[in-house]
Amino acid sequence: MDRLRDPQLNKGTAFSTVERRALQLEGLLPAVVENIDSQVQRVMNHLELKPNDLERYIYMTGLLDRNETLFFKVLMSDPTRFVPIMYNPTVGEACLKFSDIYRRNGGMYITIADRGKIKDILRNWPEKDVRFICVSTGGRILGLGDLGANGMGIPLGKLQLYTACAGVPPDKLLPILLDCGTDNEQLLDNPLYIGIRRFRPEVAELDAFVQEFVDAVQDVYPECCIHFEDWKGVDAIRLLKKYKEKICCYNDDIQGTAGVALAGLIGAMNITEGKLREQRILIFGAGSAGIGIANMTTAALRDEGLTYDDAVSRIAMVDAGGLLTKGRKDLSEDQLIYAKNCEPVKDLLNTIHLLKPTVLIGVSTVGKAFTRDVIRAMTEQTGRPGIFALSNPTDHAECSATEAYEWSDGKAVFAAGVPFDEVKIGDKLFIPGQANNFYLFPGVSLGIYAAMPKIVPDALWIEAARTLGSLLTPVQKRNGMVFPPQKDIFDISTKVAHRVAKMAFEKGLAKQVYPTT
Ligand code: NAI
Repeated sequence: MDRLRDPQLNKGTAFSTVERRALQLEGLLPAVVENIDSQVQRVMNHLELKPNDLERYIYMTGLLDRNETLFFKVLMSDPTRFVPIMYNPTVGEACLKFSDIYRRNGGMYITIADRGKIKDILRNWPEKDVRFICVSTGGRILGLGDLGANGMGIPLGKLQLYTACAGVPPDKLLPILLDCGTDNEQLLDNPLYIGIRRFRPEVAELDAFVQEFVDAVQDVYPECCIHFEDWKGVDAIRLLKKYKEKICCYNDDIQGTAGVALAGLIGAMNITEGKLREQRILIFGAGSAGIGIANMTTAALRDEGLTYDDAVSRIAMVDAGGLLTKGRKDLSEDQLIYAKNCEPVKDLLNTIHLLKPTVLIGVSTVGKAFTRDVIRAMTEQTGRPGIFALSNPTDHAECSATEAYEWSDGKAVFAAGVPFDEVKIGDKLFIPGQANNFYLFPGVSLGIYAAMPKIVPDALWIEAARTLGSLLTPVQKRNGMVFPPQKDIFDISTKVAHRVAKMAFEKGLAKQVYPTT
């Protein structure tokens, strides 16, 4: 009976007659002996009957509790179908209701009140060889703000994609919610809220908590990579800076997003036959996504032989106050790097006229900010502009695929943060790309799993981005595809992983022994 109750060992109706006899399962299962494919079919039938994706999410979570192998077989059978169910956008809804739909642990909750004993708590996890911890404070869940302990849906979902998209063994993955309270009073007022009931700590207290956690992980799971996910933007940037050169860790919101955007740029260059080092890039939005993209693009441009000053000069940024210029007093240290030495310019169109960018990247959360005039100006100046409207959800996208293609007379090379349908102009078909982070982080993680690098420098993400950007076939390029089809994700991840691991070995970062056969 224990076999049937253990989700890691349970095969349900797929236990063979011999196994049923040996394990004393006779009588505990119906007569039929099935293979996993018919079990998958039954799950698919169940999913069809569910009224919406949240119900499908709940059903799949229940399946994970019963039969882990079947759960991952279903997920891996069609990642593009299941990513929107187990991750964005459904996971956002699941997180909003997480306290109300809570059924199982699935990962670990470590609270700020646990300081002083985090190491002992980590040892309570049953697996002894954990290779990845995905950790969130629930500080900024997708576009939904502070969701406190409800944010656990994110590390759970993100790690499931490691397996679904890249085949990383699930027993090596540990989702953790570092619960340090929430400033979301609606949650604190909910009698069913599952988290610690207090407001979030000041920076010093948070950082001390995180330091103890990081030290404990190094001690208990020395081969583990820490994946930071959905922390409040300022915390995310500060902590990544602090740990990136010291331990094996990464932040997908910052490095993964930037890597995918860079892959999009490289993909676009493949279509226009331009050179990355010759582009002038205008980033509309100078928050954590924008700064991450700027920094990684700078690193990629330096790789292409530009000096630091030349690389930085190729990138300009606009925020709610207009173009980032040296004279502005409201810029952070990270933003000042990209500030231009010119008079203030408030609006986007005038900025385009002034700087003549060849690529425009939107990470502003301002829906419809790329107007007809903006797209026209980009097209007139450049011929074939890169237009990336990356803000999400859909009503935040700076423009739609149809708008980008129609207003540029089919000249724009377009990608978005959300999926858009194909667009037909005359007899030409355009397939818009989606800059989905799942293109990179599962493959990068598989590469980390294989090579076990001491740290995860930006160079590994740039290598991953280059790999992704180089996978387009001639037909895909003709259709304006900036990214390869999502259905090929397993193959994409494997290729990304291979190049990431190879580079980790070449740079002398790998702790793993290089395979000789
Ligand atoms: P954030 O809030 O840190 O930054 C937003 C930036 O936009 C700020 O610099 C703000 O000043 C600027 N902004 C706001 N209003 C503006 C206006 N009227 N004109 C010009 N700039 C304006 O947000 P974060 O985390 O940087 O994310 C931005 C967007 O990017 C979000 O919609 C997010 O969903 C999207 N995103 C997309 C990703 C993808 O496609 N893979 C990955 C990460 C983020």
